[in-house]
Amino acid sequence: MEQLLPRDPLGILPEVDEDEKATQQDGALSTAALITISTVVASTLTLVILVVVMKKRRTKKAVKALAMLAARESLELGIATEYLLETFPREAQTASGASNPNFYELCEFVAIGPSGKGFGKICPRDGKVNCSIVDALETPRRGKATHFVSWCWAYSLDDVVDAIRSWTQSSNAPPSTHICLWMCFFCNNQYRILEERSATGSAELQTVFEAHLAAAGQMVVILDSFLQPHYYSRAWCLFETYVCIQQGYPRRILLPSRELEAFKETIETSGPAPIRQRIQGIDLRRAEASVKADDDVIKSMISNTCGFDTVNQVVRREILKWVLYAFEQYLSEPQAG
Ligand SMILES: *[C@@H]1O[C@H](CO)[C@@H](O)[C@H](O)[C@H]1NC(C)=O
Repeated sequence: MEQLLPRDPLGILPEVDEDEKATQQDGALSTAALITISTVVASTLTLVILVVVMKKRRTKKAVKALAMLAARESLELGIATEYLLETFPREAQTASGASNPNFYELCEFVAIGPSGKGFGKICPRDGKVNCSIVDALETPRRGKATHFVSWCWAYSLDDVVDAIRSWTQSSNAPPSTHICLWMCFFCNNQYRILEERSATGSAELQTVFEAHLAAAGQMVVILDSFLQPHYYSRAWCLFETYVCIQQGYPRRILLPSRELEAFKETIETSGPAPIRQRIQGIDLRRAEASVKADDDVIKSMISNTCGFDTVNQVVRREILKWVLYAFEQYLSEPQAG
């Protein structure tokens, strides 16, 4: 319709050179278009970059979340008793060339160095090379820890295996068939501990220990002797016992089966008096840590909270439980001769 009307019917519009007008219009159009195009391009580019960054971030976040999950799972793993009792002893003997090494002796053959079980494997906790024994194992040789084990590396392989075997075979055994034990030797990355030995403070050790205990929910304590347990002279062991008592987790004491024999012999040759004397004489003030600072920290913590007498009493009561069990075993044995 517009085209049918004359361009300037009243003749009031200034004369415009048609060519110039076209050029002007073209110029105006191209500037506007240029601005629009560049705005669109810029926004699109920003959007694309944003999407890529977000995606990358999300992927990074997802990867990070997965890694964190794997790390957490790894930290809660325990070693399956079946593996510990049936397979590990032979492996340990072969690796160390000793028939009954203690765990200090065993460490360099199975937990660290080029013959360690985790050698060359990626640690899921920090993503670096060399991992803990438990991370080097596959299910069902490991699983979420059901018990935290408080013990000493000075114990022999036989004693540890025997104490755990006696427990799993006794009527006191936990109902679960898949018992997985959190034991520092197997579950800590010993490669890292060796590297960072001096860097780890006792405060950090406490947090780590409490987290492991909380995840497992109960503790078993391995003693090597009922009359003179090496355990109660060690401040770190004492500390684990103390925290377990303070926080109300169930505890159970395990001893190697030969201690039942030692108990029987003591009853028969010396009567119950030395047993009573020993139990009443338990005093954890005497425990010592390898590092003096740890010793002071642990002892002042106990003194300032529940006090040594309370801890001593709880420990005595627990040994008493084992003594009653041993006495029952002794009484129900058929008499010799
Ligand atoms: C892994 O362990 C070997 C043997 O102990 C050691 O030489 C190496 O440095 C360790 N690698 C890392 C990344 O820690």
